[in-house]
Amino acid sequence: MPEPASEAELRAEILRLVREYARLRHAGFALPAAGDPEEFTPGVSPVPYAGRVFDADEVEAGVASLLDFWLTLGPEGEAFERELAAMLGVRNSILVNSGSSANLVAFSALTSPKLGNRRLKPGDEVITVAAGFPTTVAPIVQNGCVPVFIDNDPITLNARVEQLDDAYVPGKTRAVIMAHTLGNPFDVTAVTDFCRRHDLWLIEDNCDALGSTYDGTLTGTFGDLSTQSFYPPHHITMGEGGAVNVVRNAGLKLLVESFRDWGRDCWCPSGKDNTCNKRFGWQLGELPEGYDHKYIYTHLGYNLKPTDVQAAIGRKQLQKFPAFAAARRRNWHTLRTLLDPLSEWLDFQLPTHATAWTQAGFTWDSSGHRSDPSWFGFMIRVNPGSPVSRKDLAVALDEAKIGNRMLFGGNLVRQPVFAQARKTGAFPMRIVGDLAGADAIMNETLFVGTYPGLREAACEFIAATIANLYRCPSDAIQPR
Ligand SMILES: Cc1ncc(COP(=O)(O)O)c(C=O)c1O
Repeated sequence: MPEPASEAELRAEILRLVREYARLRHAGFALPAAGDPEEFTPGVSPVPYAGRVFDADEVEAGVASLLDFWLTLGPEGEAFERELAAMLGVRNSILVNSGSSANLVAFSALTSPKLGNRRLKPGDEVITVAAGFPTTVAPIVQNGCVPVFIDNDPITLNARVEQLDDAYVPGKTRAVIMAHTLGNPFDVTAVTDFCRRHDLWLIEDNCDALGSTYDGTLTGTFGDLSTQSFYPPHHITMGEGGAVNVVRNAGLKLLVESFRDWGRDCWCPSGKDNTCNKRFGWQLGELPEGYDHKYIYTHLGYNLKPTDVQAAIGRKQLQKFPAFAAARRRNWHTLRTLLDPLSEWLDFQLPTHATAWTQAGFTWDSSGHRSDPSWFGFMIRVNPGSPVSRKDLAVALDEAKIGNRMLFGGNLVRQPVFAQARKTGAFPMRIVGDLAGADAIMNETLFVGTYPGLREAACEFIAATIANLYRCPSDAIQPR
């Protein structure tokens, strides 16, 4: 009889087979390398606007974590949090189960009574931007605060920062939460100056902008808190997932963790007890002295943790992230170059502070500031002179199997939930100006992919499909 295999041998064999299986089963999902054969049939091969890019590393990491069967957030989660924080250069990153949860937890943390006078209270006004993703705004309302919508610029897609002063009401305005739209850093100088001047909290929704820089510094590092999403279309994925980054103020870490973890006062990680060395030595609220700290609650919290399996997958994605970000930038520039002949009818997104795009690069305004987006997508705006409507464009792309999306919720105040609330007064909000930019984004734009799985032939097909719609001579669209 042969000796039964040891645990280590079995594990090694399982993981070897998993890698072998993943290479066969998921071959089409790996990051394409230059020179890899490109199998693409125009009109038949789908061109997704986004998607998972992974290989045997992620599948092995997920299975290895499952074999360990820790399940809830544990060693992989702690390692991911450390590695993400180090990559961003922030004090802490705290994993949650989505970008929406990250926004909710980040915002809720700022309502903690532990912040004294600085805490956000019901009725406080919070400035945000009209066009974007709904869960950037929802936490404001969910916490009883009042969203104050300013407009977006329809070319950068970011806040019209000149409206910040119009939105500000002394004694009422207490925070700003806004996204770096489609990866384009907002005007960080204007927003951080404004927040500093009026002593406001700033939450950067960095869910679509991992790897973007403003004046050479990564976005997600300018506010008090920032947030990430790791849902599959995003720059890295773990299926569902997100993170709250604590940029400088170490005191916010425990508040973020408390809201993520049921509202508890205790900060022991999963599987550990008595980190504070006085587990049975606290007297809080009206509880008896010595009540178990593990079950003492200082906040009305949630449970928004992901699993360790997700974190294990995310760690592998993090290692690949520089190549992912480079591919996104490359794809954006390929599309921009190919679509340039259609500039008479189509506008394209510009990085904040850029004034124009040329083959040689961007030209910049006189501010001296620069932004370098890690593009989430490639925005196309059908301008008013176009003989083709945005709807025609979306339908044509769709028929050619080219994935395209509108800018999430468009002008959010026109979404049923906000439109109804304006009528019924279900919750208060304030709108600054006419939101014409947000309406233009809602009516005239869509975006196609820049995700790292997209290749040259797919970019050329996107451009050719659009050119065809305008009956542009096909030789106007030159493959690079
Ligand atoms: C700007 C922005 N914030 C938040 C989210 C929410 O992230 P999740 O889908 O992980 O909840 C998204 C989703 O794409 C987003 O685009």
